[in-house]
Amino acid sequence: MKISIVLGTRPEIIKFSPVIRECERLGLDYFILHTGQHYSYNMDRVFFEQLELPEAKFNLDVGSGSHGEQTGKMLIGIEDVLRREVPDVVLVEGDTNTVLAGALAAVKLGIAVGHVEAGLRSYDREMPEEINRVLADHCSDLLFAPTEKSKGILLGEGISEEKVFVTGNTVVDAVCQNLEIAKRKVSVCEGLGVDDGGYFLATVHRQENVDNEGMFRGILKGLELVREEFGFPVVYPIHPRAEKQLKIFNIEVNGVKIVEPLDYLSFLQLESNARLVLTDSGGVQEEACILGVPCVTLRYNTERSETLDVGANVLAGTDPLEIVKKVGLMLNKKNCWENPFGDGKAGERIVQTLREKFG
Ligand code: UD1
Ligand code: UDP
Repeated sequence: MKISIVLGTRPEIIKFSPVIRECERLGLDYFILHTGQHYSYNMDRVFFEQLELPEAKFNLDVGSGSHGEQTGKMLIGIEDVLRREVPDVVLVEGDTNTVLAGALAAVKLGIAVGHVEAGLRSYDREMPEEINRVLADHCSDLLFAPTEKSKGILLGEGISEEKVFVTGNTVVDAVCQNLEIAKRKVSVCEGLGVDDGGYFLATVHRQENVDNEGMFRGILKGLELVREEFGFPVVYPIHPRAEKQLKIFNIEVNGVKIVEPLDYLSFLQLESNARLVLTDSGGVQEEACILGVPCVTLRYNTERSETLDVGANVLAGTDPLEIVKKVGLMLNKKNCWENPFGDGKAGERIVQTLREKFG
């Protein structure tokens, strides 16, 4: 069996790390194909170094661009590599343009596609990610659903049950594998001048939020009001897309501590010690839930609805007063929910399923 792992962005590197480690442990024949969608040191290489992942065998260096341009370049590059390498299965993870290109390139060559994190739905077709995940699911041969709920969504869309495997989400594996190391190796609060449990952590990067001036200003005003109302500093490791948009809109940010994107161990520690998380990130909603940290989501919908179901998360949207209200609500709740995303063995289950299917 030969496996091709196609990845290209920060969350894919992190969430594929348990699968890669399992392939290494078992000495399987696999290779990493990096599209180069993310390329800045702190969005890409830092994760390979810190998580001690093997180098990608191929890097397409596609970089940034419009959706069509970026996806088209990836499709051409991935097809070329797959033709030469002829893997039995191509694995993609999540909902990025890299996922869409990887899945499409493989299925058109008649190569089996395995979609990790299948069956998530926001039901908002204006999100580029929703289009990517729906299309990837519907051309996959193996759908690794993180929860029974996501499996139910796939079955509801007519996908046949024998293709769907409930594995848990590999983000739990990543948290379990790295949290203790983070505790030993980094002291991020000290470096940022905040007290353990005495700050809020914010991340905002979604296209629909930061590319829209009104939405982005609303969120930043909300963060400023939250700081005033509750008295906790707000730390915001800023994604390069958001940083670029701040400059384009000429926005002056008040009352928020903006820092560069962090490496995984530092971010994990900052997240686990935060009093509360405000985010529009998918992975951060999941991690906060796993870590027992209350979350306020700066969106009007979420494909991580399990976090809402267990009471770990609430939707606030982008209105400043609503953000303050939802933070107040979450601060008054007990953090005693169950983690709905599995037991930290998703990576093992995914690889085991591949071995059973492809020998
Ligand atoms: C992408 C994914 C999004 C995911 C996010 C994870 C799609 C459609 N979107 O969004 O689902 O949540 O990654 O972080 O695939 N940039 C840099 N350095 C980099 C990468 C990007 O400076 O290494 C800047 C560029 O200005 C670029 C912008 O960020 O134009 C957006 O990058 P892009 O990869 O297109 O989308 P993301 O917003 O990162
Ligand atoms: N993350 C990180 N450093 C940061 C911000 C996030 O390592 O400064 C990690 C975070 O722990 C999570 C992942 O990046 O595992 C989430 O990625 P992102 O928010 O970019 O994308 P999304 O999950 O929304 O697709």
